[in-house]
Amino acid sequence: MLGDKKVVFSGVQPSGNLTIGNYLGAIKNFSAFSDEYRCFYCVVDLHAITVRQVPAELRRRTYETLALYMACGLDPEKNTLFVQSHVPAHAELSWLLNCYTMFGELSRMTQFKDKSAKHADNINAGLFTYPVLMAADILLYQTDLVPVGVDQKQHLELARDIAGRFNQAYSPTFVVPEPYIPQSGMKIMSLADPLSKMSKSDPNPNAVVYILDDKDTVLRKFRRAVTDSGAEVRPGEGKEGISNLISIYRCFTGKTEEEVIKEFEGKGYGDFKTACGEACADALSPVREEFARLMADKAYLEAVMKKGAEEASYAAARTMAKVKKKIGFIG
Ligand code: TRP
Repeated sequence: MLGDKKVVFSGVQPSGNLTIGNYLGAIKNFSAFSDEYRCFYCVVDLHAITVRQVPAELRRRTYETLALYMACGLDPEKNTLFVQSHVPAHAELSWLLNCYTMFGELSRMTQFKDKSAKHADNINAGLFTYPVLMAADILLYQTDLVPVGVDQKQHLELARDIAGRFNQAYSPTFVVPEPYIPQSGMKIMSLADPLSKMSKSDPNPNAVVYILDDKDTVLRKFRRAVTDSGAEVRPGEGKEGISNLISIYRCFTGKTEEEVIKEFEGKGYGDFKTACGEACADALSPVREEFARLMADKAYLEAVMKKGAEEASYAAARTMAKVKKKIGFIG
C-alpha cells in the first residue's frame, strides 16, 4: 500500500523489439489497473545490461519502450512511468537484498540456467543476481500486485521469499507481493514452432510478430504460420499451431472459442490465417501511429521520464529509510 491505494509494479526490459506476446500478455493489460491502483511501470535498463548491449541501441530502446508503454494506453498522468537507472534506490536496495538471498536459491532460477547456456561467454555476476534486482524493484514500492508473464513467476516467488525473510529477521517492513498472470495472452507461442514461446530474441523473423510490424509484415507472418495438415479450425491434439492462432485471434477480437470455431466452419486455414493477420494488424495500427508520434518528440518523452523518476524516488525513499534503520545503518 502507498497512501490509501494498493500498488502495482511491473517492468519491461529495453532489449529487443517487443512482440505481440509482450503486448497481449503484459502491456495491454497494464492500463486496466490505473484507476484502482497506484501504478509504477518501469523500463528496466539495469536488468538489460546483464547481457551485452550496444550503447546507442540501449539508449534508443529505452526511449522506445517508454513510448510503447504510452502508445499502448498508459497515461503518464495516471501512472508513474520511469527508467530504472534514474532511481538509484533500485541498485542500492538490490545490494542490501543480496545479503538476504541465498546462493542456492539463485542457482535454482531457470532463467539463469537458460541465459547462462545461451551466453556461455558472459556468465557475469549480474546475470546471477538479476532476480535480486527484480525483487528490489518490486519491494521498494511496497507493491501488492505484479502483472507478469508466466516465465517470471519463479522470480516473483523469490521476491516473496526475500521479503518474508527480511520481515522475519527484523519486523514487518515489506509488503509481500502477489503475482498477477493474465488469462489472455498468457502463452503466445512462436508462429514457426508452436511448441515454444514467442520470444523477442528468436532469430527466425517469421516466428515472431512485433508490436511495431507494419500491416503487410503482420499479414505475411500469419500467412506463413506453421499449422498441421488438417483443415478444420478448432483446437486439438497435434494442432498446436491452429490452437495458438485461435488464442491470438481471440485476444485481438474478444471472441470466444465457440464463436471462432463457428465463424470458420467450412473455411480453410488460409482464410483463418488472413483473418488473424487482419485482426492483429488492425489492433496494432493505432499503437504504431501513436508510437511514431511520441518518438518524434524526445523532449516530451524526457519530461515524462523525469517526472516519473521524481515520483518513484519519493516513494522509494520511504522504504529505503525504513530498511536502513532496521539493518542498523546510521541515518
Ligand atoms: N524480469 C522481467 C522480465 O524479463 C522484467 C522485470 C524487471 C520485472 N523487474 C521487474 C517485471 C519487476 C515485473 C516486476 O520480463
